[in-house]
Amino acid sequence: MNPPEHTSSGNRNSKKTEAWEKLLSCTWKTPLGIIGVSLTTISVTLIIIGFICHLTGLISDHYFFIFTFMFLPLMMLFGLALIPLACYFRRKKWFQGSLLNTNHLQIDLADKQHRKGIVLFLILSVINLTIIVLVLYEGYTFTDSSYFCGVVCHEVMEPQYSAYQRSPHAKVSCVSCHIGTGSSWYVQAKLSGIRQVKAIISSDFNRPITAPVENLRPARETCESCHWPDKFHGKKIKEFISYTNDNQTDPQIQEVALHIGGRNPVTDEFEGIHWHVSRNITVEYQALDTKRTRIGRVRVTKPDGTTEEYSTGNDVPDKGVTPAWRTMDCIDCHNRPTHIYDQLDQIIDFGLYSKKIDSNIAGIREDSTTILKIEYTRRNEAIERIVPDLIELVSKRHGKDYVNMNRDKIVRSGTFLLEAYLNNVWPEMKVTWGTYRQHLGHLNSDDGYGCFRCHDEVHKTQFGKAIKQDCDMCHDEPE
Ligand code: HEC
Ligand code: HEC
Ligand code: HEC
Ligand code: HEC
Ligand code: HEC
Repeated sequence: MNPPEHTSSGNRNSKKTEAWEKLLSCTWKTPLGIIGVSLTTISVTLIIIGFICHLTGLISDHYFFIFTFMFLPLMMLFGLALIPLACYFRRKKWFQGSLLNTNHLQIDLADKQHRKGIVLFLILSVINLTIIVLVLYEGYTFTDSSYFCGVVCHEVMEPQYSAYQRSPHAKVSCVSCHIGTGSSWYVQAKLSGIRQVKAIISSDFNRPITAPVENLRPARETCESCHWPDKFHGKKIKEFISYTNDNQTDPQIQEVALHIGGRNPVTDEFEGIHWHVSRNITVEYQALDTKRTRIGRVRVTKPDGTTEEYSTGNDVPDKGVTPAWRTMDCIDCHNRPTHIYDQLDQIIDFGLYSKKIDSNIAGIREDSTTILKIEYTRRNEAIERIVPDLIELVSKRHGKDYVNMNRDKIVRSGTFLLEAYLNNVWPEMKVTWGTYRQHLGHLNSDDGYGCFRCHDEVHKTQFGKAIKQDCDMCHDEPE
């Protein structure tokens, strides 16, 4: 501790300086002060090192990220808060033992020592603030990133994250769908996030995660920030390719021209499939179960304000469900715009069509179905078993010699099946073929998915007008 320049600044000044100096320097010596100073110094040093590692891409582990950008800044702030606290206690104690009131703390800008101190304080504060702002910003963007959502809750979100990465929305962040605009959404999302973290820690969540999701369900506005319904019009041709076990070499190709609809630029009327979400129409419905696969009453409000109500005549809800009106939105049809899982037979047919499964191996379509339906207990088990299991099935059918001659082809087919399995099945999360199904079309209408939930000719108005199932209303054959 160097004494200040007594000679030049005179006695009065030196006393003031002394008061500061005693306070500050002795603060280091109190246990609280030492803890504060060390915590701050260590965290700042580690943050700087971590920041450099992050910027240069040296370490990209997410636990490292959480440590550097969430844990260390908290430690740093805590340490910084301890220092003035230590000063305060120190001063209190110091006054107790002293009768000298002249030693009051004063800032005297004429004092060189004081000026130095102030400048030092300001510089350190700016450095600290910059670090805090940078780090908080990084941490904030990180908690909003798809990577955070998908990877940090690794096991839980893996099915969703994996499907998302292969989807048309792979470059759209989780938050742009799951979190609407406005602060109330933001708060809701973060609160729900905290609940989710708690649920994960206590392992108290549904496996599989239930759909529909309630709190983080994308809203119509979120989709409409990118897709403008007024712009839909015309038809969209879609091709469906399928095989049968009896004929696994010649594909059946079904083409449908979907009446996408939207606003007809000629008549200015809304029509076709996107009629349900047109600006001047409201379609509401009451679900009779929590999955919204059984639909009771349906109500349409037309542009002139008149309403039409459809009912099955037997709208008995599931136990514990009180039907409530819900306005139909994009997600009632596009429930899987991004977490898209394959259907078991569709993915096998795709394998045959793209020649990844060798259709020259007789019976391979049936065997592939058998393999993909096996309930392995863990994904690792599937990784080990799928190819050998397929070889065994083919061997049963055609004999060992056949397998030895065609091993390459069988292994290639098995590898495709393994990939299909890994894209769709997570036994740990109880996600398997058909867990999450989509509402577009009517492939799963037996289980209550798709358009036929309403378009079943059973939902009728009191005058007997039904929600129709005419094939031509929704699609026709492409010209
Ligand atoms: C294009 C919009 C979109 C994006 C991007 C998106 N989601 Fe979803 N997500 C949805 C929709 C729609 C649902 C189904 C909602 C429903 O049925 O209520 C859903 C459902 C979920 C569910 C509930 C389980 C399920 O499969 O139905 C989870 C968990 C989930 N999303 C996580 C994520 C994560 C993690 C990301 C980012 C990696 C993400 N989502 C990105 C639209 C999106
Ligand atoms: C941030 C912008 C953004 C948001 C938000 C968004 N999408 Fe998309 N969507 C895209 C992009 C980009 C594509 C890819 C377009 C392409 O491939 O031509 C796409 C493609 C699609 C497709 C066509 C997929 C296909 O198979 O060709 C559908 C359907 C779709 N989105 C529905 C939705 C729904 C429903 C929502 C709300 C839950 C939504 N989108 C939210 C940007 C967005
Ligand atoms: C009544 C059900 C239904 C509703 C409601 C609905 N869609 Fe669609 N949408 C469809 C169907 C069916 C298709 C065509 C099937 C396909 O592309 O696989 C489609 C196609 C699309 C496409 C792809 C268009 C193209 O040309 O490729 C986009 C984008 C889209 N919808 C966005 C939306 C948005 C945004 C909303 C909400 C404002 C919405 N949809 C509401 C059923 C619906
Ligand atoms: C919640 C119930 C409900 C669901 C689910 C539903 N619709 Fe509809 N849809 C209706 C009602 C109600 C009408 C109006 C019937 C009328 O006025 O004759 C309608 C009318 C239509 C029309 C005629 C629109 C026009 O041009 O006037 C088409 C096309 C259509 N739906 C396609 C679909 C498709 C495709 C799906 C599935 C992706 C679907 N709907 C799912 C309730 C539903
Ligand atoms: C309410 C609208 C609607 C009605 C009514 C409807 N379809 Fe469809 N259909 C669709 C949609 C939407 C798709 C596309 C699904 C997709 O994009 O995955 C589709 C796809 C198909 C496909 C190809 C996929 C498959 O299932 O193999 C066939 C075949 C088909 N429809 C036949 C019919 C026949 C036959 C009728 C008349 C009994 C009919 N549809 C009535 C909406 C409808």
